Amino acid sequence: MFNLIIFGPPGAGKGTQAELLAKKYHLTHLSSGDILRQARDSARFGEKIKKYQDSGKLVPDSLVIEMIEIQAEKNISPGLLFDGYPRNLKQAHSLDRFFKKNKTTLTTVINLRLSETLAIQRIMKRGQTSGRSDDTLNTIKNRFKVYRAQTAPLLKYYKEQKKLITIDGRPDVSTVFNDIQTIIKNIS
Ligand code: AP5
Repeated sequence: MFNLIIFGPPGAGKGTQAELLAKKYHLTHLSSGDILRQARDSARFGEKIKKYQDSGKLVPDSLVIEMIEIQAEKNISPGLLFDGYPRNLKQAHSLDRFFKKNKTTLTTVINLRLSETLAIQRIMKRGQTSGRSDDTLNTIKNRFKVYRAQTAPLLKYYKEQKKLITIDGRPDVSTVFNDIQTIIKNIS
């Protein structure tokens, strides 16, 4: 059993690769973005989530951490694949405590490296059909600002723990997937 984080800036290909990995290795795919999008209709939290997602800001930790960890705890046994989580140090510390409490560990963080220019091109293209209200140029730029300020510092955090493996996110989907599978063969 292994637990992974798929990490990277907006549009790096996290969701695409996470779906393929979850299927191939029978992992539980936990996308914080998707979980929050599904909760946009909730009477209790919907308006709050919309406000943050539509501006490209991080949804408050108090909401995200609980939502993710409840799902993770229910589905821990096949192995967990976090996509878009954690996004800041508070979430990373909470995830550390989660693993400890559940007597398991984080195996590896796979970081997809992609330039902002290429990522924006990909997201803008997706925006033509995705219906995602945050796939607009202004919000994408804001998502990048937030990524640089709050999420990118986690690269140092996981590097210091010797958990971080960075791969090139530029090639086509199947090449990136093959590169990730090579990493997994070496760690499992
Ligand atoms: P989230 O949904 O996590 O969005 P994101 O991180 O900005 O990432 P994307 O979904 O845009 O991109 P991706 O890296 O998954 O790439 P994808 O595979 O889709 O978060 C959205 C919002 O929710 C946040 O702004 C925040 O408000 C909130 N939120 C989420 N998590 C949170 C958290 N933990 N804490 C607080 N708030 C949180 O690919 C992108 C496009 O490129 C697709 O069209 C795809 O088909 C294409 N593509 C993928 N790979 C390739 C390739 N190799 N070559 C060519 N095209 C490719």
